[in-house]
Parts: sequence; C-alpha cells; structure tokens
Amino acid sequence: MERHMTLGEFIIENQKDFPYAKGELSALLSSIKLAGKMVNKSINKAGLAQILGKVGKENIQGENQAKLDVMANDVFISTLKSRGEICGIASEELEDFVAFDDDIHKEAKYVVLMDPLDGSSNIDVDITVGTIFSIYRRISPEGTRVTKEDFLQSGENQVAAGYLIYGTSTILVYTTGNGVNGFTFDPGIGSFFLSHPKITFPENGSIYSVNEGNYIHFPQGIKKLIKWMQELDKDSNRPFTARYTGSLVADFHRNMLQGGLYLYPQGSTAPKGKLRLLYECNPMAFLAEQAGGKASDGERRIMELIPSELHERAPFICGNSKMVEIAEKFIEEYRAD
Ligand code: AHG
Ligand code: MN
Ligand code: MN
Repeated sequence: MERHMTLGEFIIENQKDFPYAKGELSALLSSIKLAGKMVNKSINKAGLAQILGKVGKENIQGENQAKLDVMANDVFISTLKSRGEICGIASEELEDFVAFDDDIHKEAKYVVLMDPLDGSSNIDVDITVGTIFSIYRRISPEGTRVTKEDFLQSGENQVAAGYLIYGTSTILVYTTGNGVNGFTFDPGIGSFFLSHPKITFPENGSIYSVNEGNYIHFPQGIKKLIKWMQELDKDSNRPFTARYTGSLVADFHRNMLQGGLYLYPQGSTAPKGKLRLLYECNPMAFLAEQAGGKASDGERRIMELIPSELHERAPFICGNSKMVEIAEKFIEEYRAD
C-alpha cells in the first residue's frame, strides 16, 4: 500500500529549502498543525459540547463573536505561546496584538497574524469553516519587545501562509513561497497526510463566488463583470456557476482546485469591502500567487498594499489569473460611472 508523506515529514524535508533556517519555522508550522487538530476536534463535537452559538459580545470588528471564535482564538494563542518560536501574535478577534515578552519569546524572530475562525456565520448550521494564518519575520531587533511595525508589513514579506479547512474532511494547505501543498487529516491516526501536492489553479475557471445580496452597492465595473459572467458564450465557457458559502476559506479552496473567481468588492456601504487585509487578504493572496493565480484590490496587487492599521480592510478579487485580469479591466473601464 502506498504510504503518503505526513505533514511533519514534509515540513522537515522542506527545511533544506531555507539554508539559513535553524528549524524555528518548521517548529512553528508544527505548532499550527497541533492547534489546528485541537480546533478541529472542538468543531467536530461542537453540537455536543454546547459550544455553538454566540458569546453575547462584539469583537473589535463590531461582529457578534461566536463561542467557537473565542475558543479557536484561545487555542491558537496558547498553543503558539507554549512554544518559543514567535514573539507576538495579532488576531482578527483581538483589538491589539499580543506581545510575548518574556526572555525566551523575545528572542524569537517570527510573528503570526491570524483569523482563528473564518466563516463564523456557518458554525451553527454545520457548514464549512476555516482558520487562516500568515507568518512574517519581525523587523524589530531580536531580544526586544515586538512592535506594531512588525505586524504592519506588506504581504510581500510573508514567510509562510496557509489555512485549515474544516470541511467534509479537514485539510491544511500552506505555502512557504515554494508552491502550495495540501494535507488531509486522518482522524483515526491523528496525522495530516500529503493529499494535494503542488496545487495550481486550472488555467480556466467557470465559478464565481460573491455575496450577490450586495449587488446594488457594488461599483459599476463589478456589476458589469457579474452580468458578463452570467451571459451565454460557448467560447469563454460562460455562463459561470455561482458558488458562495460565506466562508472565504471554503470559497477560495473550491476556486483554487476547480478554477474560479472570488470577489468581495467595496460597496456604497463598505468603502473598503469587508475582508481584513492582514488576516484574510494577504495570506490568501500569497497562496493564490503561489498556485499560479492572482489577488487584487481591483487596481493593485494585494501583496503590495502597505497596511496602516491592524484591522484594515481591503476590496478583494482573487482567483485564476485571467479572471482577475478581466475583473481589473471591467473596473478600469467603468471607473468614472
Ligand atoms: P469571519 O467569519 O472571519 O468574520 O469572516 C467572514 C468573511 C469571509 O470568510 C466571508 O467570505 C465573508 O466574510 C462573508 O461575508 P458576507 O456575509 O458579508 O457575505
Ligand atoms: Mn474571516
Ligand atoms: Mn474570523
């Protein structure tokens, strides 16, 4: 019987791609793997463990926190803190970043930014959710307290990024800038196994993912693009199929495997869209580009944006390169309208 490589084996195998690495990034990825297993277990038994539902207070985004948002946030922070590879963490669920400033963590060279539970509105109705993470090297000197500037880096500086998708199976997908690989969790064994090596977007796609309930608020170029995707045209494989779960991780995962375009544009009521640049757009943009796709705010490459706030939002258009380019052309053509 063919034995697939475990995620642990893969991480060690790929450490040689970083000649100057001392193993901290490998250890950090292993910590994320462990936290992901713990969150996965809680999500699977959420209905039994009475952890569905809302906490009863809002997070920094003004969103009603779900119990699993809080649980996933706590699990990731405590698991990453219990090891010594990061000097700080910023989370969609917390107002400010957390500095780990004891003697051991201060020496660490990495920071993590994360969306501990993506697609929270899906939890109580048993639909796919995810976790998104992004890893940077700190800018401030090792041995000092981590600063906000360590977190406010452009996406181009990401060392690694990925997500866990808690779907019909649980899969961990990540990149360290050398392609994208996916590992499916075997709950019987308790390990992730390489199941999706070297993922790339198919050249063409015919899926679009957007919350069309916001249609009337979209810029004219996006409205025209959506209508264009719905038109019949055999040469360009139209009309497209609409697929939208309300979980970026799930929609991105489908589009990367099957070919498609994800859109969360700005609208008249949300001038920069909804998605958070640091916790959602940048990690997905890094993965998209590593899988041969693109990510744009409609005009600029997402990973070139310079963040000025931890919780900053950005319009997000991501998927097959050709589709993102077509979207940018529509936006440009109708910019004045
Ligand atoms: P989160 O649950 O982390 O707040 O993220 C939800 C995000 C994203 O995953 C999803 O694509 C989008 O918000 C859904 O927003 P709408 O409900 O406005 O479509
Ligand atoms: Mn999210
Ligand atoms: Mn979230």
